[in-house]
Amino acid sequence: MRVTITDIKEMKQRKEKIPMLTSYDYVTAKMVDEAGVPLILVGDSLGMVILGYESTIPVTMEEMLHHTKAVVRGARKALIVGDMPFMTYHTSVSDALHNAARFIQEGGAQAVKLEGGEVVAEKVRRLVDCGIPVMGHIGLTPQSIHQLGGFKVRGKAAEEAKKLLRDAQALEEAGAFAIVLECTPAPLSKLITQKVAIPTIGIGAGPDCDGQVQVISDILGLYTEFVPKHAKQYTKLAEAMKSAVTDYLAEVKSESFPTMKESYTMDESLLESLDR
Ligand code: KIV
Repeated sequence: MRVTITDIKEMKQRKEKIPMLTSYDYVTAKMVDEAGVPLILVGDSLGMVILGYESTIPVTMEEMLHHTKAVVRGARKALIVGDMPFMTYHTSVSDALHNAARFIQEGGAQAVKLEGGEVVAEKVRRLVDCGIPVMGHIGLTPQSIHQLGGFKVRGKAAEEAKKLLRDAQALEEAGAFAIVLECTPAPLSKLITQKVAIPTIGIGAGPDCDGQVQVISDILGLYTEFVPKHAKQYTKLAEAMKSAVTDYLAEVKSESFPTMKESYTMDESLLESLDR
């Protein structure tokens, strides 16, 4: 049975921490799912860590759906959240509904995530009323990077902290089942977590959130162009991959790969008829 939003909400009530990871392809999603991670985000971080864009802004619905479908094929148990790309939900309630529905109907996801608090509350309410579970995302919202002036911690000053609390409460009232808090000071994240009944999932938001989310490429040491302060590298896959590729290159050049061990045989007498 696949994890549901009720299961996720009950984890907060039981004070059981909620781990979440991003995935973008079949193989990774399968591994994350088999490890027992209950929530998988097909994040629009895809744009940076897989597609090589400079930000998440160029990511399209078609790209997100392509990768969401692969993740859904790989993960049988986890609840899969599709991340709505830039400007696919701000323009109107109708656009938000149309694009969120594509994640569920075409992509096979069970929920969507969108960035913003009070400003998107009306859309969240409509999506939820129409049966689409929504995860909110406040604090550092990468789709607003040009407005925010860079990847910076949000909510250090009193006004901004108050606004983030209001945003979290607006998302809860609108029916969101969980909220990502990205790059918010740990004491503020703790306060927000206490003030809302739905789970908070932190990334760079300290240890007191109900759950934690990380970009899989960061924790595996795969994306090395920029390693955020909040990411912990549990392994260094980029180094391991480069070393394997270097060994392959050398062996092909030196003719030590392939050997007969990696080759197929046949009855060579059959070749005589070909060689006439
Ligand atoms: O796109 C993403 O991976 C995200 C996470 C950082 C929460 O939004």
